[in-house]
Amino acid sequence: MLQGSRGEFSSRIGFVLAATGSAVGLGNVWGFPTNAAGNGGGAFVAIYLILAFVLAYPALMAELVIGRHTRANIYSALEGLASNAPTRLAARLTGGYAVLVASAILGFYTLVAGWVLAQLCAAIARVLDWPSMSGWFATASLGRDLASAALFAVLTVLVVSGGVRNGIERWSTRLMPALLILLLALIGYVLTQPGALAGLRLYLVPDIARILDPALLVSALGQAFFSLSLGVGTMLVYASYLDSKENLPVVGAMITGIDTLVAFLAGLLVIPAMFVAQRQGIEIHAGGELIAGPDLIFQVLPALFGSMAQWGDLVALAFFALLAIAALTSSISMLEVPVALAVEKTPLARGPASWLIGIAVFAATALIACFFDPLFGLVVTVTTEYSQPLVGIALCLFAGWAIHRDRLLAEIRASQGEAAGLFWKIWPPYVRIVCPLLIAATFLQGLIH
Ligand code: PHE
Repeated sequence: MLQGSRGEFSSRIGFVLAATGSAVGLGNVWGFPTNAAGNGGGAFVAIYLILAFVLAYPALMAELVIGRHTRANIYSALEGLASNAPTRLAARLTGGYAVLVASAILGFYTLVAGWVLAQLCAAIARVLDWPSMSGWFATASLGRDLASAALFAVLTVLVVSGGVRNGIERWSTRLMPALLILLLALIGYVLTQPGALAGLRLYLVPDIARILDPALLVSALGQAFFSLSLGVGTMLVYASYLDSKENLPVVGAMITGIDTLVAFLAGLLVIPAMFVAQRQGIEIHAGGELIAGPDLIFQVLPALFGSMAQWGDLVALAFFALLAIAALTSSISMLEVPVALAVEKTPLARGPASWLIGIAVFAATALIACFFDPLFGLVVTVTTEYSQPLVGIALCLFAGWAIHRDRLLAEIRASQGEAAGLFWKIWPPYVRIVCPLLIAATFLQGLIH
Protein backbone atom coordinates (compact mmCIF):
# COMPACT_ATOMS: atom_id res chain seq x y z
CA MET A 1 0.00 0.00 0.00
CA LEU A 2 1.30 3.45 -0.84
CA GLN A 3 1.89 5.50 2.31
CA GLY A 4 1.37 8.74 0.43
CA SER A 5 -2.08 7.72 -0.77
CA ARG A 6 -3.50 7.57 2.76
CA GLY A 7 -4.89 10.63 4.49
CA GLU A 8 -3.42 12.08 7.67
CA PHE A 9 -4.75 14.40 10.39
CA SER A 10 -3.11 17.82 10.16
CA SER A 11 -2.49 18.29 13.89
CA ARG A 12 -2.80 16.73 17.33
CA ILE A 13 -5.85 18.83 18.10
CA GLY A 14 -7.46 17.74 14.82
CA PHE A 15 -6.97 14.10 15.74
CA VAL A 16 -8.08 14.55 19.35
CA LEU A 17 -11.26 16.36 18.27
CA ALA A 18 -12.06 13.72 15.65
CA ALA A 19 -11.47 10.87 18.10
CA THR A 20 -13.42 12.54 20.90
CA GLY A 21 -16.09 13.32 18.29
CA SER A 22 -16.30 9.59 17.67
CA ALA A 23 -16.37 8.82 21.38
CA VAL A 24 -18.88 11.50 22.36
CA GLY A 25 -22.20 10.41 20.94
CA LEU A 26 -25.71 9.34 21.80
CA GLY A 27 -24.08 6.92 24.25
CA ASN A 28 -22.84 9.83 26.34
CA VAL A 29 -25.86 12.04 26.21
CA TRP A 30 -28.45 9.49 27.15
CA GLY A 31 -26.74 6.15 27.81
CA PHE A 32 -24.50 7.40 30.59
CA PRO A 33 -27.03 9.53 32.52
CA THR A 34 -29.78 6.93 32.44
CA ASN A 35 -27.41 4.09 33.31
CA ALA A 36 -26.24 6.16 36.25
CA ALA A 37 -29.77 6.98 37.38
CA GLY A 38 -30.81 3.32 37.18
CA ASN A 39 -27.71 1.95 38.90
CA GLY A 40 -27.30 3.78 42.16
CA GLY A 41 -26.43 7.29 40.94
CA GLY A 42 -23.02 8.33 42.26
CA ALA A 43 -22.09 4.65 42.78
CA PHE A 44 -22.29 4.09 39.02
CA VAL A 45 -20.37 7.30 38.31
CA ALA A 46 -17.57 6.20 40.67
CA ILE A 47 -17.30 2.65 39.24
CA TYR A 48 -17.48 4.02 35.70
CA LEU A 49 -14.56 6.36 36.35
CA ILE A 50 -12.45 3.48 37.65
CA LEU A 51 -13.34 1.14 34.76
CA ALA A 52 -12.81 3.87 32.16
CA PHE A 53 -9.23 4.38 33.22
CA VAL A 54 -8.33 0.84 34.38
CA LEU A 55 -9.89 -1.16 31.51
CA ALA A 56 -11.14 1.05 28.70
CA TYR A 57 -8.06 3.29 28.52
CA PRO A 58 -5.58 0.37 28.13
CA ALA A 59 -7.91 -1.21 25.54
CA LEU A 60 -8.08 2.12 23.68
CA MET A 61 -4.28 2.22 23.74
CA ALA A 62 -4.20 -1.23 22.13
CA GLU A 63 -6.20 0.15 19.19
CA LEU A 64 -4.13 3.32 18.95
CA VAL A 65 -0.83 1.40 18.99
CA ILE A 66 -1.96 -1.16 16.38
CA GLY A 67 -3.43 1.55 14.14
CA ARG A 68 -0.43 3.81 14.17
CA HIS A 69 2.09 1.04 13.64
CA THR A 70 0.33 -0.69 10.80
CA ARG A 71 -1.16 2.42 9.17
CA ALA A 72 -4.03 0.43 7.74
CA ASN A 73 -7.72 -0.42 8.16
CA ILE A 74 -8.44 -2.97 10.90
CA TYR A 75 -8.54 -5.98 8.56
CA SER A 76 -5.19 -5.34 6.88
CA ALA A 77 -3.70 -4.11 10.16
CA LEU A 78 -4.34 -7.36 12.01
CA GLU A 79 -3.40 -9.43 8.98
CA GLY A 80 -0.07 -7.59 8.85
CA LEU A 81 0.66 -8.39 12.49
CA ALA A 82 0.12 -12.13 12.08
CA SER A 83 3.27 -14.22 11.77
CA ASN A 84 1.88 -17.72 11.05
CA ALA A 85 -1.16 -19.36 9.50
CA PRO A 86 -3.34 -19.77 12.63
CA THR A 87 -2.82 -16.18 13.76
CA ARG A 88 -3.43 -14.99 10.20
CA LEU A 89 -6.79 -16.76 10.24
CA ALA A 90 -7.62 -15.27 13.66
CA ALA A 91 -6.58 -11.85 12.33
CA ARG A 92 -8.82 -12.09 9.27
CA LEU A 93 -11.78 -13.32 11.29
CA THR A 94 -11.39 -10.60 13.93
CA GLY A 95 -10.80 -7.86 11.35
CA GLY A 96 -13.69 -8.94 9.13
CA TYR A 97 -16.03 -9.32 12.08
CA ALA A 98 -15.11 -5.88 13.45
CA VAL A 99 -15.95 -4.29 10.08
CA LEU A 100 -19.34 -6.03 10.13
CA VAL A 101 -20.01 -4.92 13.71
CA ALA A 102 -19.10 -1.30 12.90
CA SER A 103 -21.51 -1.39 9.94
CA ALA A 104 -24.31 -2.97 12.00
CA ILE A 105 -23.90 -0.41 14.77
CA LEU A 106 -24.08 2.31 12.10
CA GLY A 107 -27.27 0.62 10.85
CA PHE A 108 -29.22 1.07 14.09
CA TYR A 109 -27.45 4.29 15.05
CA THR A 110 -28.66 5.90 11.78
CA LEU A 111 -32.25 5.07 12.69
CA VAL A 112 -31.95 6.64 16.15
CA ALA A 113 -30.06 9.63 14.74
CA GLY A 114 -32.92 10.00 12.25
CA TRP A 115 -35.36 10.37 15.16
CA VAL A 116 -33.06 13.07 16.55
CA LEU A 117 -33.00 14.89 13.20
CA ALA A 118 -36.80 14.65 12.99
CA GLN A 119 -37.15 16.28 16.42
CA LEU A 120 -34.63 18.92 15.40
CA CYS A 121 -36.61 19.69 12.23
CA ALA A 122 -39.83 19.81 14.31
CA ALA A 123 -38.22 22.33 16.68
CA ILE A 124 -36.97 24.47 13.79
CA ALA A 125 -40.43 24.41 12.16
CA ARG A 126 -42.01 25.44 15.47
CA VAL A 127 -39.63 28.37 15.85
CA LEU A 128 -40.49 29.40 12.26
CA ASP A 129 -44.19 28.92 13.03
CA TRP A 130 -44.88 26.21 10.44
CA PRO A 131 -47.33 24.06 12.38
CA SER A 132 -48.12 21.36 9.79
CA MET A 133 -44.44 20.74 9.13
CA SER A 134 -43.57 20.58 12.82
CA GLY A 135 -46.50 18.24 13.39
CA TRP A 136 -45.27 15.82 10.70
CA PHE A 137 -41.75 15.73 12.08
CA ALA A 138 -42.87 15.39 15.69
CA THR A 139 -45.17 12.40 15.08
CA ALA A 140 -43.62 8.96 14.64
CA SER A 141 -44.36 7.22 11.33
CA LEU A 142 -42.40 4.85 9.10
CA GLY A 143 -42.24 7.49 6.37
CA ARG A 144 -40.86 10.10 8.73
CA ASP A 145 -38.34 7.66 10.22
CA LEU A 146 -37.04 6.55 6.82
CA ALA A 147 -36.85 10.09 5.43
CA SER A 148 -34.96 11.49 8.39
CA ALA A 149 -32.64 8.47 8.64
CA ALA A 150 -31.89 8.88 4.91
CA LEU A 151 -31.04 12.53 5.51
CA PHE A 152 -28.68 11.57 8.32
CA ALA A 153 -27.07 8.85 6.19
CA VAL A 154 -26.45 11.37 3.39
CA LEU A 155 -24.78 13.79 5.84
CA THR A 156 -22.56 10.98 7.12
CA VAL A 157 -21.54 9.92 3.59
CA LEU A 158 -20.85 13.51 2.53
CA VAL A 159 -18.41 14.03 5.41
CA VAL A 160 -16.61 10.70 4.96
CA SER A 161 -16.32 11.07 1.19
CA GLY A 162 -14.48 14.37 1.84
CA GLY A 163 -11.55 12.38 3.26
CA VAL A 164 -9.59 12.48 6.51
CA ARG A 165 -8.52 16.11 6.49
CA ASN A 166 -11.24 17.79 4.44
CA GLY A 167 -14.11 15.73 5.76
CA ILE A 168 -13.62 14.06 9.12
CA GLU A 169 -11.15 16.52 10.65
CA ARG A 170 -12.78 19.63 9.24
CA TRP A 171 -16.26 18.79 10.53
CA SER A 172 -15.09 17.42 13.87
CA THR A 173 -13.16 20.60 14.65
CA ARG A 174 -16.17 22.73 13.73
CA LEU A 175 -18.81 20.68 15.50
CA MET A 176 -17.14 19.62 18.75
CA PRO A 177 -16.70 23.15 20.18
CA ALA A 178 -20.34 23.90 19.23
CA LEU A 179 -21.39 20.77 21.11
CA LEU A 180 -19.57 21.84 24.26
CA ILE A 181 -21.07 25.35 24.18
CA LEU A 182 -24.62 24.01 23.70
CA LEU A 183 -24.13 21.50 26.51
CA LEU A 184 -22.88 24.10 29.01
CA ALA A 185 -25.63 26.57 28.09
CA LEU A 186 -28.33 23.92 28.53
CA ILE A 187 -26.91 22.80 31.90
CA GLY A 188 -26.93 26.42 33.07
CA TYR A 189 -30.56 26.79 32.06
CA VAL A 190 -31.87 23.51 33.47
CA LEU A 191 -30.11 23.80 36.83
CA THR A 192 -31.92 27.08 37.53
CA GLN A 193 -35.37 25.50 37.02
CA PRO A 194 -37.54 24.32 39.92
CA GLY A 195 -37.09 20.63 40.75
CA ALA A 196 -33.55 20.35 39.33
CA LEU A 197 -31.89 19.80 42.71
CA ALA A 198 -33.70 16.52 43.36
CA GLY A 199 -32.22 15.18 40.11
CA LEU A 200 -28.77 16.43 41.00
CA ARG A 201 -28.98 14.59 44.32
CA LEU A 202 -29.99 11.30 42.70
CA TYR A 203 -27.21 11.63 40.13
CA LEU A 204 -24.38 12.54 42.47
CA VAL A 205 -25.05 10.94 45.86
CA PRO A 206 -23.73 7.36 45.75
CA ASP A 207 -25.99 4.53 46.88
CA ILE A 208 -23.09 2.68 48.58
CA ALA A 209 -25.01 -0.59 48.83
CA ARG A 210 -24.98 -0.84 45.00
CA ILE A 211 -21.24 -0.35 44.53
CA LEU A 212 -20.34 -4.07 44.34
CA ASP A 213 -23.48 -5.11 42.47
CA PRO A 214 -22.36 -7.27 39.47
CA ALA A 215 -25.09 -5.81 37.28
CA LEU A 216 -23.67 -2.36 37.92
CA LEU A 217 -20.15 -3.51 36.95
CA VAL A 218 -21.38 -5.02 33.69
CA SER A 219 -23.45 -1.98 32.73
CA ALA A 220 -20.50 0.28 33.49
CA LEU A 221 -18.11 -1.82 31.39
CA GLY A 222 -20.51 -2.00 28.43
CA GLN A 223 -21.15 1.71 28.68
CA ALA A 224 -17.40 2.46 28.77
CA PHE A 225 -16.68 0.30 25.69
CA PHE A 226 -19.56 1.77 23.69
CA SER A 227 -18.74 5.29 24.77
CA LEU A 228 -15.06 5.07 23.83
CA SER A 229 -16.00 3.47 20.45
CA LEU A 230 -13.91 0.40 21.30
CA GLY A 231 -13.95 -3.06 19.75
CA VAL A 232 -15.01 -2.12 16.21
CA GLY A 233 -11.83 -0.63 14.77
CA THR A 234 -12.80 3.06 14.72
CA MET A 235 -10.07 4.21 17.08
CA LEU A 236 -7.63 1.92 15.28
CA VAL A 237 -8.37 3.43 11.88
CA TYR A 238 -8.29 7.02 13.20
CA ALA A 239 -4.89 6.34 14.81
CA SER A 240 -3.64 5.01 11.48
CA TYR A 241 -3.96 8.61 10.20
CA LEU A 242 -1.99 10.08 13.12
CA ASP A 243 1.47 11.59 12.79
CA SER A 244 4.20 9.20 13.96
CA LYS A 245 5.66 11.81 16.34
CA GLU A 246 2.55 12.13 18.51
CA ASN A 247 2.78 10.81 22.06
CA LEU A 248 0.15 8.04 22.17
CA PRO A 249 -0.33 7.63 25.96
CA VAL A 250 -1.02 11.36 26.22
CA VAL A 251 -3.53 11.57 23.36
CA GLY A 252 -5.22 8.38 24.58
CA ALA A 253 -5.59 9.88 28.06
CA MET A 254 -7.01 13.08 26.53
CA ILE A 255 -9.64 11.14 24.59
CA THR A 256 -10.63 9.07 27.65
CA GLY A 257 -10.71 12.17 29.86
CA ILE A 258 -12.79 14.34 27.50
CA ASP A 259 -15.25 11.54 26.71
CA THR A 260 -15.77 10.84 30.42
CA LEU A 261 -16.12 14.53 31.21
CA VAL A 262 -18.78 15.02 28.53
CA ALA A 263 -20.69 11.95 29.77
CA PHE A 264 -20.57 13.35 33.30
CA LEU A 265 -21.72 16.78 32.10
CA ALA A 266 -24.58 15.24 30.12
CA GLY A 267 -25.76 13.69 33.39
CA LEU A 268 -25.85 17.16 34.93
CA LEU A 269 -28.25 18.11 32.15
CA VAL A 270 -30.47 15.07 31.61
CA ILE A 271 -31.18 13.82 35.15
CA PRO A 272 -32.09 17.24 36.60
CA ALA A 273 -34.19 17.90 33.45
CA MET A 274 -36.23 14.79 34.24
CA PHE A 275 -37.01 16.06 37.70
CA VAL A 276 -37.91 19.47 36.33
CA ALA A 277 -40.33 17.59 34.06
CA GLN A 278 -41.75 15.76 37.07
CA ARG A 279 -42.50 19.09 38.72
CA GLN A 280 -44.52 19.96 35.61
CA GLY A 281 -46.61 16.83 36.13
CA ILE A 282 -44.84 14.69 33.51
CA GLU A 283 -44.44 10.98 34.36
CA ILE A 284 -40.74 10.08 34.65
CA HIS A 285 -40.96 6.57 36.09
CA ALA A 286 -42.11 3.37 34.41
CA GLY A 287 -42.40 0.14 36.41
CA GLY A 288 -40.60 1.68 39.38
CA GLU A 289 -37.53 2.63 37.29
CA LEU A 290 -36.59 5.97 35.85
CA ILE A 291 -37.59 6.03 32.15
CA ALA A 292 -34.46 5.45 30.07
CA GLY A 293 -33.38 5.13 26.43
CA PRO A 294 -35.50 6.39 23.53
CA ASP A 295 -38.60 7.15 25.62
CA LEU A 296 -36.61 9.54 27.78
CA ILE A 297 -35.27 11.46 24.82
CA PHE A 298 -38.30 11.36 22.56
CA GLN A 299 -41.15 11.59 25.08
CA VAL A 300 -40.18 12.88 28.51
CA LEU A 301 -37.88 15.67 27.35
CA PRO A 302 -40.10 16.91 24.47
CA ALA A 303 -43.01 17.00 26.96
CA LEU A 304 -40.83 19.10 29.23
CA PHE A 305 -39.89 21.50 26.41
CA GLY A 306 -43.55 21.72 25.42
CA SER A 307 -44.48 22.79 28.94
CA MET A 308 -41.93 25.62 29.07
CA ALA A 309 -43.97 28.56 27.94
CA GLN A 310 -41.53 30.99 26.44
CA TRP A 311 -38.19 29.31 25.91
CA GLY A 312 -39.36 25.77 25.23
CA ASP A 313 -38.94 25.82 21.43
CA LEU A 314 -35.45 27.28 21.59
CA VAL A 315 -34.35 24.90 24.35
CA ALA A 316 -35.69 21.97 22.29
CA LEU A 317 -33.84 23.25 19.24
CA ALA A 318 -30.56 23.56 21.19
CA PHE A 319 -30.98 20.12 22.79
CA PHE A 320 -31.68 18.26 19.55
CA ALA A 321 -28.91 20.17 17.75
CA LEU A 322 -26.57 18.97 20.50
CA LEU A 323 -27.68 15.36 20.00
CA ALA A 324 -27.49 15.59 16.20
CA ILE A 325 -23.92 16.91 16.35
CA ALA A 326 -22.91 14.20 18.82
CA ALA A 327 -24.45 11.54 16.56
CA LEU A 328 -22.86 12.81 13.33
CA THR A 329 -19.28 12.98 14.63
CA SER A 330 -19.76 9.37 15.83
CA SER A 331 -21.44 8.00 12.71
CA ILE A 332 -18.67 9.27 10.43
CA SER A 333 -16.15 7.30 12.49
CA MET A 334 -18.24 4.12 12.11
CA LEU A 335 -18.52 4.54 8.34
CA GLU A 336 -14.77 5.14 8.09
CA VAL A 337 -14.11 1.53 9.23
CA PRO A 338 -15.59 -0.22 6.13
CA VAL A 339 -14.66 2.69 3.82
CA ALA A 340 -10.97 2.48 4.81
CA LEU A 341 -11.05 -1.25 4.09
CA ALA A 342 -12.70 -0.75 0.69
CA VAL A 343 -10.31 2.03 -0.33
CA GLU A 344 -7.23 0.04 0.68
CA LYS A 345 -8.29 -3.40 -0.57
CA THR A 346 -10.25 -2.65 -3.75
CA PRO A 347 -9.74 -0.30 -6.71
CA LEU A 348 -12.63 1.91 -5.51
CA ALA A 349 -11.88 5.57 -4.78
CA ARG A 350 -13.04 7.11 -1.48
CA GLY A 351 -16.08 8.91 -2.95
CA PRO A 352 -17.77 5.93 -4.65
CA ALA A 353 -16.76 3.62 -1.76
CA SER A 354 -18.44 5.93 0.77
CA TRP A 355 -21.67 6.11 -1.27
CA LEU A 356 -21.84 2.38 -1.98
CA ILE A 357 -21.25 1.38 1.64
CA GLY A 358 -23.54 4.17 2.82
CA ILE A 359 -26.36 2.77 0.65
CA ALA A 360 -25.75 -0.79 1.90
CA VAL A 361 -25.84 0.36 5.52
CA PHE A 362 -28.98 2.37 4.88
CA ALA A 363 -30.64 -0.77 3.51
CA ALA A 364 -29.93 -2.35 6.91
CA THR A 365 -31.34 0.74 8.64
CA ALA A 366 -34.54 0.47 6.58
CA LEU A 367 -34.83 -3.23 7.43
CA ILE A 368 -34.50 -2.48 11.14
CA ALA A 369 -37.08 0.31 10.82
CA CYS A 370 -39.58 -1.99 9.05
CA PHE A 371 -39.12 -4.92 11.45
CA PHE A 372 -38.41 -2.85 14.52
CA ASP A 373 -39.68 -5.10 17.32
CA PRO A 374 -37.82 -8.27 16.44
CA LEU A 375 -34.67 -6.59 15.08
CA PHE A 376 -33.75 -3.43 16.95
CA GLY A 377 -33.05 -4.83 20.44
CA LEU A 378 -31.38 -7.89 18.93
CA VAL A 379 -28.92 -5.90 16.82
CA VAL A 380 -28.12 -3.56 19.73
CA THR A 381 -27.48 -6.47 22.11
CA VAL A 382 -25.42 -8.59 19.72
CA THR A 383 -23.22 -5.69 18.62
CA THR A 384 -22.72 -3.62 21.74
CA GLU A 385 -23.06 -6.10 24.59
CA TYR A 386 -21.41 -9.17 23.06
CA SER A 387 -19.30 -8.17 20.09
CA GLN A 388 -17.61 -5.01 21.31
CA PRO A 389 -16.07 -6.57 24.47
CA LEU A 390 -15.05 -9.73 22.55
CA VAL A 391 -13.34 -7.86 19.73
CA GLY A 392 -11.85 -5.60 22.44
CA ILE A 393 -10.25 -8.64 24.09
CA ALA A 394 -8.91 -9.84 20.72
CA LEU A 395 -7.38 -6.42 20.03
CA CYS A 396 -5.65 -6.37 23.44
CA LEU A 397 -4.20 -9.81 22.67
CA PHE A 398 -2.98 -8.71 19.23
CA ALA A 399 -1.41 -5.54 20.65
CA GLY A 400 0.14 -7.44 23.54
CA TRP A 401 1.43 -10.52 21.76
CA ALA A 402 1.77 -9.76 18.06
CA ILE A 403 3.57 -6.42 17.96
CA HIS A 404 7.32 -6.89 17.81
CA ARG A 405 9.54 -5.57 20.56
CA ASP A 406 11.38 -3.24 18.21
CA ARG A 407 8.12 -1.59 17.20
CA LEU A 408 7.21 -0.98 20.82
CA LEU A 409 10.70 0.40 21.43
CA ALA A 410 10.18 2.86 18.59
CA GLU A 411 6.95 3.87 20.27
CA ILE A 412 8.73 4.40 23.57
CA ARG A 413 11.30 6.59 21.84
CA ALA A 414 8.54 8.71 20.27
CA SER A 415 6.89 9.48 23.60
CA GLN A 416 8.50 11.78 26.07
CA GLY A 417 8.10 12.60 29.73
CA GLU A 418 8.16 10.62 32.95
CA ALA A 419 4.51 9.63 32.84
CA ALA A 420 4.97 8.17 29.35
CA GLY A 421 8.06 6.27 30.57
CA LEU A 422 6.06 4.74 33.38
CA PHE A 423 3.22 3.95 31.00
CA TRP A 424 5.45 1.90 28.68
CA LYS A 425 6.70 -0.13 31.64
CA ILE A 426 3.26 -1.05 32.95
CA TRP A 427 1.11 -1.25 29.83
CA PRO A 428 2.72 -4.10 27.80
CA PRO A 429 2.29 -6.87 30.43
CA TYR A 430 -1.03 -5.35 31.46
CA VAL A 431 -2.56 -5.44 27.98
CA ARG A 432 -1.14 -8.92 27.37
CA ILE A 433 -2.69 -10.62 30.40
CA VAL A 434 -4.52 -8.51 32.97
CA CYS A 435 -6.73 -6.48 30.66
CA PRO A 436 -8.12 -9.38 28.56
CA LEU A 437 -8.77 -11.40 31.73
CA LEU A 438 -10.55 -8.55 33.47
CA ILE A 439 -12.72 -7.78 30.42
CA ALA A 440 -13.53 -11.49 30.03
CA ALA A 441 -14.40 -11.84 33.73
CA THR A 442 -16.71 -8.85 33.69
CA PHE A 443 -18.26 -10.03 30.42
CA LEU A 444 -18.89 -13.56 31.72
CA GLN A 445 -20.43 -12.19 34.87
CA GLY A 446 -22.88 -10.34 32.63
CA LEU A 447 -23.78 -13.57 30.81
CA ILE A 448 -24.38 -15.49 34.02
CA HIS A 449 -26.58 -12.89 35.69
N1 PHE B 1 -19.04 6.23 21.08
C1 PHE B 1 -20.27 6.46 20.38
C2 PHE B 1 -21.32 6.98 21.36
O1 PHE B 1 -21.07 7.14 22.52
C3 PHE B 1 -20.78 5.24 19.70
C4 PHE B 1 -19.81 4.52 18.83
C5 PHE B 1 -19.64 3.15 18.97
C6 PHE B 1 -19.05 5.19 17.85
C7 PHE B 1 -18.76 2.46 18.18
C8 PHE B 1 -18.17 4.50 17.04
C9 PHE B 1 -18.04 3.14 17.21
O2 PHE B 1 -22.44 7.21 20.97
